[in-house]
Amino acid sequence: MCAIRASQLGLKVAVVEKRATHGGTCLNVGCIPSKALLHASELYDEAHHALGAMGIEVKPKLDLAKMLAFKDEGVKGNVDGVAFLLRKNKVDHFHGSGRIVAPGKVEVTFINGEKQEVDAKAIVIATGSDVARLPGVEIDEKTVVSSTGALSLAKVPKRLLVIGAGVIGLELGSVWRRLGSEVLVVEFLDRILPGLDGETARQTQKILAKQGLSFKLGQKVTGIGKAGPARKVSIEPAAGGKAETVETDVVLVAIGRVPYTEGLGLPEAGVTLDNRGRVIVDEHFQTSVAGIYAIGDVIAGPMLAHKAEDEGVAVAEILAGQAGHVNYDVIPNVIYTFPEVASVGKSEEELKEAGIAYRSGKFPFTANGRAKANKQTDGFVKILADAETDRVLGVHIIAAQASEMIAEAAVLMEFGGSAEDLARTCHAHPTLTEAVKEAAMAVDKRAIHF
Ligand code: NAI
Repeated sequence: MCAIRASQLGLKVAVVEKRATHGGTCLNVGCIPSKALLHASELYDEAHHALGAMGIEVKPKLDLAKMLAFKDEGVKGNVDGVAFLLRKNKVDHFHGSGRIVAPGKVEVTFINGEKQEVDAKAIVIATGSDVARLPGVEIDEKTVVSSTGALSLAKVPKRLLVIGAGVIGLELGSVWRRLGSEVLVVEFLDRILPGLDGETARQTQKILAKQGLSFKLGQKVTGIGKAGPARKVSIEPAAGGKAETVETDVVLVAIGRVPYTEGLGLPEAGVTLDNRGRVIVDEHFQTSVAGIYAIGDVIAGPMLAHKAEDEGVAVAEILAGQAGHVNYDVIPNVIYTFPEVASVGKSEEELKEAGIAYRSGKFPFTANGRAKANKQTDGFVKILADAETDRVLGVHIIAAQASEMIAEAAVLMEFGGSAEDLARTCHAHPTLTEAVKEAAMAVDKRAIHF
């Protein structure tokens, strides 16, 4: 995004990438392959459990190798698309590892070991993040896997133990549960999805538990041993207490991600990191060294591809002399389970902590015509609006298509809109988005259908 926008603005741009294909974690081993598997496994699950009730009799049979190939094709289509866009925008490409040797100088080491120095007026670090490791636990990507290994398991494990009830744990836990695994999620905190609005997280947990995911909250994993081909996971209460051992076939470590700056030469270049290893930048994304910038997972903020994309565009515009800007108050967040969970803006907990008086309007999908017709009534829309000005401060949605629905809330918030603005906007019937309008009306205690 940064390279293409900079090229659009007339700058001469080169990208240094060590992976064989462009697109980074998101396209190669993150968002795109996981969504392909979530889509395919959801259809498989529906074929098992939902189609019969609609009068469609099928006996689904899983061909995992083919499903993984379907996922790989989705990745290929996307990474080829990026390569095409870079060519079209005349962005030069160096296939190798980059190291900053001085401001304005990047040394590229090619796969064959040869080196070349590239000069640039500005350098943008966009190296992303890597899997956070659990001390003493080796990820072999076979029986102890990160998200990367969990996207390519050769067979459906009978038992899958997930460490971490965050986004990756719940999304990939859902994939393998749908394909037949017994899934146990072990979480350090006493809640799932930390950071998400508390009520929304509790409701999500109930829905996922109903689907068959098991949870052990307030527990930490202290070690992973072997028991023949199986794995023995030692777990103990986070607050201290009696330890236990759980046997499983595959362990997914999903306890977060850490900024990736290895081999970049940042200390030598004088680029300062914070105490969590993130590159420190100012409001123009410039690091402690003039001419070196950083964006995305490698700096502070949510580790989300769309946040990084917007930062990429902003820094390109700043470099071209324009006023690039990212509004961090309006960054949507989506968890692609079924139903999906999407939110934008503040949670109730954040508003309380900030001492902001708010009114809340909630509308359940059990009262939405389209959801009832489709028999997909799990979830709700919750809108939090400033008690005095009615300006919308946060929107939280659990719904079959929450990922698409959250966009209207983001646009509304970007324009500083009120719950009343939303309530007075005509929404097509029958759609799930009518629940957004009804939740907006519920802020003023006048929902019609509930
Ligand atoms: P996360 O930060 O979402 O969740 C990690 C979870 O692990 C937390 O609930 C944390 O309390 C727990 N945890 C930490 N240490 C633990 C321990 N020792 N034992 C048990 N639990 C422990 O991180 P996750 O799921 O690994 O995802 C990494 C990043 O990738 C996140 O920043 C996420 O936003 C991003 N991502 C976003 C997606 C999306 O937007 N749909 C999809 C996948 C990842």
